Amino acid sequence: MPKAAAPAIPNLNPDSLARFVDPLPIPAIARPLGRKAVPGQTGLDAPFYRVAMREIMAKLHRDLPPTRLWSYGGSVPGPTFEARGGQGLLVEWANELPEKHLLPIDHSLHGAEKSTPEVRGVVHLHGGKTPPESDGYPEDWYVPGQSRTYFYPNKQDATLLWYHDHTMGINRLNIYAGMLGLHVIRDEAEDALQLPRGKYEIPLVLMDRDLRVDGQLSYPVSPDDAKPWVPEAFGELHLVNGKLFPYLEVEPRKYRFRVLNGANGRFYRLSLTNGGEMHQIGSDQGLLAAPVSVSAVNLAPGERADLVVDFASHRGTQMLLMSDAFELMQFRVSGAAVTDTSALPAVLRPVPRVAESEAVLTRRLTLDEQLNPVAESMGMLLNKTPWHMPITEKPVLSTTEIWELVNLTDDTHPIHLHMVRFQILDRRRFDAFEYMTAGTLRYVGGSIPLEANEMGWKDTARVNAKTVTRIIVPFVGYPGRYVWHCHILEHEDNEMMRPYEVVKS
Ligand code: C2O
Ligand code: CU
Ligand code: CU
Repeated sequence: MPKAAAPAIPNLNPDSLARFVDPLPIPAIARPLGRKAVPGQTGLDAPFYRVAMREIMAKLHRDLPPTRLWSYGGSVPGPTFEARGGQGLLVEWANELPEKHLLPIDHSLHGAEKSTPEVRGVVHLHGGKTPPESDGYPEDWYVPGQSRTYFYPNKQDATLLWYHDHTMGINRLNIYAGMLGLHVIRDEAEDALQLPRGKYEIPLVLMDRDLRVDGQLSYPVSPDDAKPWVPEAFGELHLVNGKLFPYLEVEPRKYRFRVLNGANGRFYRLSLTNGGEMHQIGSDQGLLAAPVSVSAVNLAPGERADLVVDFASHRGTQMLLMSDAFELMQFRVSGAAVTDTSALPAVLRPVPRVAESEAVLTRRLTLDEQLNPVAESMGMLLNKTPWHMPITEKPVLSTTEIWELVNLTDDTHPIHLHMVRFQILDRRRFDAFEYMTAGTLRYVGGSIPLEANEMGWKDTARVNAKTVTRIIVPFVGYPGRYVWHCHILEHEDNEMMRPYEVVKS
């Protein structure tokens, strides 16, 4: 892999920062301005929100000067949308960004040519079952001074979604600059469970970043000035809800944590110190059938985990949230006795497995890495096909397909499909050399058991190196053009993304 060039201004050493001196911020709840008619739907109106994309200066840590970021609505993460299942909402996303980008654009990438405006934005609701005209197609970007109004029907199960930028060729930079936020859908089935709620339900948005010693964002670049793209960006500092090393004061009782991996490329592996126990109750697309006791939670970029932690037996102590050896945040458990009426039910929601026999079609799709003659990564592809080639995947609306994701690369790629939810069927190792030379798929070994917390509905799945991961996808929702891609944003921006189209039968 090409080495990143040494930054002009050195990066901040994480060990130079005092830990756990800032309280954990909680993003504000978005407030509608009123109601408006839903375009194209006679007689239907919905709450109307307006959110501006704009540059801000934000304190990421008590001892750092403010950092220049790009936000939705003036904070990073942006405001959280609270929605009820089946109750739509309208958002006007206004581009009020400055005319110059704050991070280094690679004009050699498709969609980011010198002829395109430097600053562009378009918003996608990740995990949303959204009509195509409101889904934030990567080429539907618009420039400062313009806005678009999108309609989100929210006709889906209760879960945690997130919105983020999706602009062709600069998506990784816009998101690194801060352009993301949460969107929660609730429903009666979930309300009835009496899970911890209100101030006992806490979102945790995880993002890694590098900062320069002057507190400003540092994004890695290659040594080639004309092609600054790097295949992966990993930061040494970890923001939780936009703060470095925050702390949270908790009562000795149950809490529900809604966790998002919003990083460009980092995989988090979460655990608690001091004997803290986690129960995972949900994943990307809602509740699991039953809680799963987990000692560590793997989260690839784009994935979410819904966790319940009971601090009752930890009165007066402290506990850290870790990712491998990184300290992310601290919990300070108060000593006062409290009554906790919330529940961790033994059964959450039926999640029937989709039978393989329901699939009308199986597609075999490869994940490929292109290397240059000195074995440096030139980028990744899906099915050896760049973005601009004609659409090859055209599932029929309301049918079910199996996608066999054949990973020929040496990395795990989190693969995400827009509009749909799916289940992971299995993972199996295979002989990649034989596949590449003879074109035959020969499995080596049986299927690798899925983790219990991967048995629910998903929208992003880890496709492990040299492994075939099979997913089963009911294409239920709307006809039209969508995308599927790797959620490592550096890969997505450099051709590891393809359009697909849901067609009417
Ligand atoms: Cu998180 Cu194409 O999305
Ligand atoms: Cu998405
Ligand atoms: Cu990838």
